[in-house]
Amino acid sequence: MKKYFYSCIWLTVVLAVFLFLTGCKSTAVEEPAPKTESGARDIHSYSEPDLVKVKNVDLDWNVSFEKKTISGTADLSIERSEKGKGAPLKLDTRDLKIEKAETSSDEGKTWKEAEFKLAEPDKILGSGLTVTVPDDAARVKITYETSPSASGLQWLSPEQTAGKKQPYMFSQAQAIHARSFIPIQDSPGNRVTYSAKVKTPEGLLAVMSAENNPEGTERPGEFSFKMTKAIPPYLIAIGVGDLAFKGLSDRTGVYTEPSMLDKAAFELGDTEKMVEATEKLYGKYRWGRYDLLVLPPSFPFGGMENPELTFATPTMLAGDKSLVSLVAHELAHSWSGNLVTNATWRDFWLNEGFTTYIEWRIVEAVYGKERADMEMVLAKKGLEEEMAKQDPKDQVLHVDLDGRDPDEGFTGVPYTKGALFLRHLELAVGRDNFDSFLKGYFDHFAFQSITTEQFKEYLKANLADKFTDKVSMDDVEEWIEKPGLPANAPVPVSEAFLKVDEGLKEWMIGKIEASALPAKDWSTQEWLHFLGGLPANLGTEKMTKLDAAFALTKAGNSEIEFKWLMMAVANNYEPAYPRLEEFLTSIGRRKFVAPLFTELAKTPEGKKRAEEIYAKARQGYHPITQASVDKILGK
Ligand code: BES
Ligand code: ZN
Repeated sequence: MKKYFYSCIWLTVVLAVFLFLTGCKSTAVEEPAPKTESGARDIHSYSEPDLVKVKNVDLDWNVSFEKKTISGTADLSIERSEKGKGAPLKLDTRDLKIEKAETSSDEGKTWKEAEFKLAEPDKILGSGLTVTVPDDAARVKITYETSPSASGLQWLSPEQTAGKKQPYMFSQAQAIHARSFIPIQDSPGNRVTYSAKVKTPEGLLAVMSAENNPEGTERPGEFSFKMTKAIPPYLIAIGVGDLAFKGLSDRTGVYTEPSMLDKAAFELGDTEKMVEATEKLYGKYRWGRYDLLVLPPSFPFGGMENPELTFATPTMLAGDKSLVSLVAHELAHSWSGNLVTNATWRDFWLNEGFTTYIEWRIVEAVYGKERADMEMVLAKKGLEEEMAKQDPKDQVLHVDLDGRDPDEGFTGVPYTKGALFLRHLELAVGRDNFDSFLKGYFDHFAFQSITTEQFKEYLKANLADKFTDKVSMDDVEEWIEKPGLPANAPVPVSEAFLKVDEGLKEWMIGKIEASALPAKDWSTQEWLHFLGGLPANLGTEKMTKLDAAFALTKAGNSEIEFKWLMMAVANNYEPAYPRLEEFLTSIGRRKFVAPLFTELAKTPEGKKRAEEIYAKARQGYHPITQASVDKILGK
């Protein structure tokens, strides 16, 4: 009897929990994420642009290196839809101190203080900011201050720069970090124009992803910028430091610290050629100038396609232009990404897949087919290795990011699988036909943010329906919505790599000495292929021989060195450890740093070494790199 009584209680409890959980779920379903302009729902933004939309942002900023903050105002011009009558303005923020919200109904002549509510922060999304705005107000001004640990900003002390005399600050907004320095509708579907007035300490130069004045060598501590084309918020960017400029052509140039200027200008010498090659393929460059900012080594990425001003890692300065496909990549985004943008982070592959494909085309046009073939083979091999360890749901181009940080979508899949898909279409319909299709696509969707669905529709009407015997929508569906690489994936081949493979084989079976490898004339790409082709457990004896013959521990080329150091850790090759420590404490590029720490953490001794190195390196890393390494080392 008693037993029956208890099981009844248990059943009731289980039932109540079940009802509670399903109840929660159904309210979540009733309140879906708001729609962006393209009709997509962006689960990574609290904004409701279909009700009240921000069209323009005027920033008035004070950059304080003492406080490590940007403080000032964001004056937002808004537009209210019919169904948005009476609705508040919803913005995204992360770690912002909001001091005041005001509204204006007379174009900024007079301002009235407005009520606002900052929600409890969500770990991934930050805090939604809700501002009560009367229906007749078209401007909303937020007075705010960033946190010294803003996820989208890095503050460097003078010692962390090349010149050692002046401090430095730069932003990195993609994917959802703009909200850590601007209260904004931080969804790639919500394009805005912007302007900025920026106050800095005297003697520093400020540059932004907008019209910069290359002649402006004065550093009075006050700068202004204007971006007149509507861009997604993740492309708003700023850099402040002791910067010098060198023109590369009438419309291209490079900013960097004075001591790096000549090296950077040499490396980037082909930039104008690249712009011209891309224009020939996909129509004119629509952004005015194309300049680059070469950052300090803590920049967490290889490059970032901020409009008119690509941000780039100094680790691409190899001295022989061998890593400039990175410039081709960021430049390509001026079409695929900045002109036609992913509407949500699920559609990221529309940005990166198209861009990687165009990168290959630019490399082919400027450096020849052999080089492009090598880059394609390397990329495909990298993708296959990554996919072998990857959850199938992450192998889908149209990836499901529900409940996840969009930065988790940053894998080889949107890049290389996306590019191979386009290459597959090119091979199916022929290069000329595919080129005119892509050019038409950029014209059709120029300055819009689009979803994968919109792309599919466009592809059906403009390619599949025209080449019915060559492109099937079932095939397209498989490429976009299914995991893995379809059986019809292109197989890039590099003649040069076949020769490298021969040498590798002969050395591995002991037929030749390391010094007899025909490596003197190898390009960076051939080296990367060679190192990638060696067995994971090569052993210290063979590593010692290679190092003696080619001084790989002192390679000086960041990509080769990275690969070599990965092998050094995997094989416990002691002589490379001092260089490993130097590398990890002087470079903060996540693509290098995160895999090296992951490899180290695989053994107890390695983990100990990793902890020791990280204790010295962490403070020099960008918040994005810190977050990744913290996770790897379980901090
Ligand atoms: N837009 C990306 C960088 C990015 C993507 C930053 C997602 C944050 C979130 C940029 O164009 C890029 O792809 N950079 C690559 C280099 C490129 C040559 C593949 C990088 O940084 O590794
Ligand atoms: Zn990219």
